[in-house]
Amino acid sequence: MRNASEPRIVDLPAAVDRQRRSRLVETLLSRQSVGALEEPAPQGADLDLILEAGLRAPDHGRLRPWRFVLIRGAARAAFGDCLAAAVTVRDPAAPPALRDRYRAWVLRTPLLIAVGAQVRPDHPVPEFEQVLSAGAAVMNMLNAIHMLGYGGMWVTGANAYDARVNAALGFRAPSRLVGFLAIGTSKAATTAAERPDRAAHIAEWTGQAFGGLQG
Ligand SMILES: Cc1cc2nc3c(=O)[nH]c(=O)nc-3n(C[C@H](O)[C@H](O)[C@H](O)COP(=O)(O)O)c2cc1C
Repeated sequence: MRNASEPRIVDLPAAVDRQRRSRLVETLLSRQSVGALEEPAPQGADLDLILEAGLRAPDHGRLRPWRFVLIRGAARAAFGDCLAAAVTVRDPAAPPALRDRYRAWVLRTPLLIAVGAQVRPDHPVPEFEQVLSAGAAVMNMLNAIHMLGYGGMWVTGANAYDARVNAALGFRAPSRLVGFLAIGTSKAATTAAERPDRAAHIAEWTGQAFGGLQG
């Protein structure tokens, strides 16, 4: 049992003053996706923090469905070949330029994290929630990437839905990739993109049944 003199985990952030907490949230508000990446990729303690953030995703039933597969260094060439081969199987008539494009993307991305959900179809927690939890892990990592001063982007595309690519990374249905996190350092200074109009996304429910949110 917890010793009464020990702080509860939920109390720990109280040591951080209010202004600093607001600034932390503001840092999150300045997050944006960065597609144009260069070296360096996070490594060592920074990479550990990013991965730990992913492992702090909420998770119904303590299933911990998150699986992160790091693709970096020399392994990128082989993964580029894997994507190129998958293109050929999907569409034997695909132009060579498409295969080259995937290879080049992998090779110029300092670090890829393939994120997937290890799905338990027999479990009372719906598969949808297990996959959502893996998505939450992606978001936690994107936020950590941003807060540490790196850039990242969540990418899917046909490869993320390709059974062969999934299998090469250790995911067999119903387990599945939820996407790739492309990570590195932003090539250019970034300015926060305009965010959506709040009214289109947020409503207050006053007790009357809605006909539907506008949108
Ligand atoms: C599940 C998911 C998959 C995505 N897949 C792609 C993708 O394959 N290619 C792409 O250009 N953007 C993709 N995006 C969008 C980018 O990750 C990013 O959210 C978008 O460019 C908006 O940028 P922002 O995060 O700065 O608002 C995806 C987003 C999500 C949530």
